[in-house]
Amino acid sequence: MADTAVIYCSRTGFSARYARWIADALNADLYRYKTVDTALLTPYKTVIYGAGFYAGKLKGARWFTRVIRPLTACKVIVFATGSMPHVQPQDLRQEWDMTFSSSEQERFRLFYLPGGMNYARLSWLSQGMMRLFRFYMLHSSKTRPDTKQLMKRLDRSVDYTDKKAIRPLVAEAERP
Ligand SMILES: Cc1cc2nc3c(=O)[nH]c(=O)nc-3n(C[C@H](O)[C@H](O)[C@H](O)COP(=O)(O)O)c2cc1C
Repeated sequence: MADTAVIYCSRTGFSARYARWIADALNADLYRYKTVDTALLTPYKTVIYGAGFYAGKLKGARWFTRVIRPLTACKVIVFATGSMPHVQPQDLRQEWDMTFSSSEQERFRLFYLPGGMNYARLSWLSQGMMRLFRFYMLHSSKTRPDTKQLMKRLDRSVDYTDKKAIRPLVAEAERP
């Protein structure tokens, strides 16, 4: 059995791709969201959870925090993917605050990996929601000009995934 588990929740494939790359790099066991429970994760020294941001929150985070909470001794790493090619850690404060409590944010090591947008794998409802969100962001006076530029590109599918982006996360997982 490996000493690291990688769990992912992925609707359109971006987080799944990163989870596979990370599991390969660390020789870790790979699991899909909701196929594991606290008992199964107990032997692992490190647990990594990855998912996409949806409407500003990390998908599946509520389930993950419930499963991981009793395992106080293991190292926990969380990665999020999103539609932005690059973000500064401070730009994600709102998303992390909406997703995790302050004590969870202190305990978990948080990473952002560039995802993209895959309209072909979204339901009509999700496509509609995304188009509404994009419209709102493009017309809101609160949206920064650089974010507006990025939102403009989301009129079609884009893929920003990059295997090199996992390096800091892998280094963190390998740190004793
Ligand atoms: C309805 C909807 C809402 C989204 N909301 C956000 C968001 O708030 N922030 C963001 O960066 N990306 C957002 N995205 C883009 C996804 O986070 C991005 O495509 C992510 O990589 C998907 O990961 P997955 O394919 O593993 O589920 C949204 C996408 C959809 C369809």
